Formats: sequence, C-alpha cells, structure tokens
Amino acid sequence: MTPMSIRSAVTSAPGYRLSARAHTVKLDQNESPYDLPDDVRERALARIADADLHRYPDLHADRVRRRIAELEGWPEAGVVVASGSNVLIQALVIAGGIGRRVLCVAPTFAVYSLQARLLGADLTEVALVGEHGSELPERALTAELANGVGVHFMTDPMAPTGNALPHGSVERLIAAGGDRWLSVIDEAYGAFAGSDHRELVRRAPNAVSIRTLSKAYGLGGVRLGYALAAPAVATELQKAILPFSVSILQLAVVEAVLDDPSYVEARVRESVAERERVARALRALPGVHVHPSVTNFLLLSVGDAERTYERLLEAGVLVRRQDHLPGLRGALRVSIGSPSDNDAFLAAMASSVDRERADDREEAPHATG
Ligand SMILES: Cc1ncc(COP(=O)(O)O)c(C=O)c1O
Repeated sequence: MTPMSIRSAVTSAPGYRLSARAHTVKLDQNESPYDLPDDVRERALARIADADLHRYPDLHADRVRRRIAELEGWPEAGVVVASGSNVLIQALVIAGGIGRRVLCVAPTFAVYSLQARLLGADLTEVALVGEHGSELPERALTAELANGVGVHFMTDPMAPTGNALPHGSVERLIAAGGDRWLSVIDEAYGAFAGSDHRELVRRAPNAVSIRTLSKAYGLGGVRLGYALAAPAVATELQKAILPFSVSILQLAVVEAVLDDPSYVEARVRESVAERERVARALRALPGVHVHPSVTNFLLLSVGDAERTYERLLEAGVLVRRQDHLPGLRGALRVSIGSPSDNDAFLAAMASSVDRERADDREEAPHATG
C-alpha cells in the first residue's frame, strides 16, 4: 500500500531502474572499463591521506570550480559543480521547471523525466522519429517551445540511442527557446563524439552545457559533474545545489585527476576504435541491428531482448535492457569495455544468435506440419 503521507507525484513516479545481476563482464552502465592510472590514483590517495576529514569541504567545490574554469576556458562565475550531472539535472528542474514545463524527447536519459515528475513540473515528452526511432523530432520540439516557459533538455550525443544530433539543430532549438526556456545540452558523451557546444552556450544567455567526469574521465564512482553557463544563470543554479554537497574525498580525487588528465585522450581513442570494431562484428550477425553510435556504447535491436539478455548473462556478460522504452522493441544497450570485455561480449552474442537459429530450425517442422 502506498503511504498517504507521501506526495502523489512521488508515489506515481517510477524509480530509476537498474538490475544488479551476477556477472564477470560489466557492460551495463557506460562506465570506463579502466580505473585511474596508477600514478594518478596514488596522488589521489595521498591527497585523501592529507585531508582534514573533520572540516567541511569548500562551500561550492570552489577550488575545483576554478580548475574546471581553467580546463574549459570558461569564466569561473559560470561554472557550477555537483556530485554528478544527475544532481545538476535536478537543480535545473528546481531552478527552471517547477510550476512550469520540462520538455525532452522520448526515449532519452531517464533522469530528466523522473526529476520533472518528482518535482511536479509539467512534463512534455516528444517521441523520437524515423525508421529506427532515433531521429530528433525537431519540428515538434520547436512547436512545443513556442508555448510556455521551462527547461528543455537536449542530449548530444543522444542516449540511449547513441547518435549525434543533426548539425545545426541545437542552435536552432536554443533560438526557438529564446529567453523563456532554459536550454540544456547534456554533453555526457561529447568526448567520444568529438563534439562540443561551448561556443553556442557562450553566445546564448539561457543555455547550459552539463558535463560529467563519469564517462571519458573514468570517475563514475567518484561522482562529479559540472555545468557551464552564463554567470547570471550559474548564480541562480548554484542556489539549487545543497551547500557542502561535494565531499572532501570527491574533491581530493578530482584535483589529482585535474593535475594531469592526459590519460583521458588515449582512453577515448581506444574506446572509439573498439566501438567501431564491435559494431562491425555485430553487423555481421544475422538478426541484429546496430544503431549508429558516436558514444562509448551501442544500442542493438535483437529479436527477443529478454532471451538474449539472459543468454549473455549465462556467459557472464551484463548489458542493459532497453526494450521497455517507447519505440525500442528488442533493444539492448552495451557499453564499450576493454578489448577482452568486448571479445567476451561478441563471443556470447555469436553463441546466442547460433542458439536462436538452432531453436528456429527445431520449431520450423512443427510450425509447418
Ligand atoms: C546522458 C547522460 N547524462 C547524464 C548522466 C549522469 O552522469 P553522472 O554520472 O554525472 O550523474 C548519464 C549517465 O549515464 C547519461 O547517460
């Protein structure tokens, strides 16, 4: 029974879904397959050893904000740091969406709609279009932006489909939002695509780029994301982030990484090369459709997502089911791992496809007899 004491916006909202199943190869959360390089890790641990754990951290992660401003060539007053970009998404809905509108496509990253629902914003989800349900419905979004005020979440590259937004669409949609909409571009996977919307955001007083160290930087476990915006917007957004919410432990690791982030480039290069190799091998398998991807993951359509998911797990490989999402029948999402992770996944996929075909052959005589 749902407790009467809880707001209906909360009781009716789905939780964030993640199924933790036993596995040996983890390809379900678009993480980096690699931990920090040894020297960076040692410097991070040395910083933690020196930290004053009895003191509060910086109010708004100020030292790290300064370092990120330098890294991104952005005015410090326009940087907001949080414990992951999830927290920034929540803060953006608090700052611009409550009592107003939240607009996004569907399917997309689940946290936009989840936060809109929890916080009681008026949510509009516009379905992706095209043969494989992964193209941006730009005209419908533009029409929605003509009405009301609120927050518009765009994701470039998109998730979970993995494709890049069409050239020029972000700029046109920011313009359509004008000064009534906060236009957010989630660039979580931008490093893998080589895309970067900083120059657009610099020119648009109501646009925000949100970024994360969880993917290309390999810091999913540390939790750090940041927003780049005009200082006037960043000042307001900062109010929606709880004070002292990025801990001394997080800041210590992030500072060690920012001292020498040179490892990131080679890892992104490997991930991109592996993505292309895995996509090629999957496209050679009968009955498997691979969506175009510029990220560190691939979205596949297989005949029966549940059966393939279970067969992959039997081989120890954990991927993410996406077949509950609108327009994504038979869909699974797989992160690009290390070359040996990817080999294990490809072997398990090939075996699953073989079993599928053997089952079909067995069923055929009954079907026709
Ligand atoms: C599109 C997108 N945005 C944001 C996030 C969340 O990132 P963070 O780990 O910084 O909260 C993810 C995580 O998977 C994502 O896919």
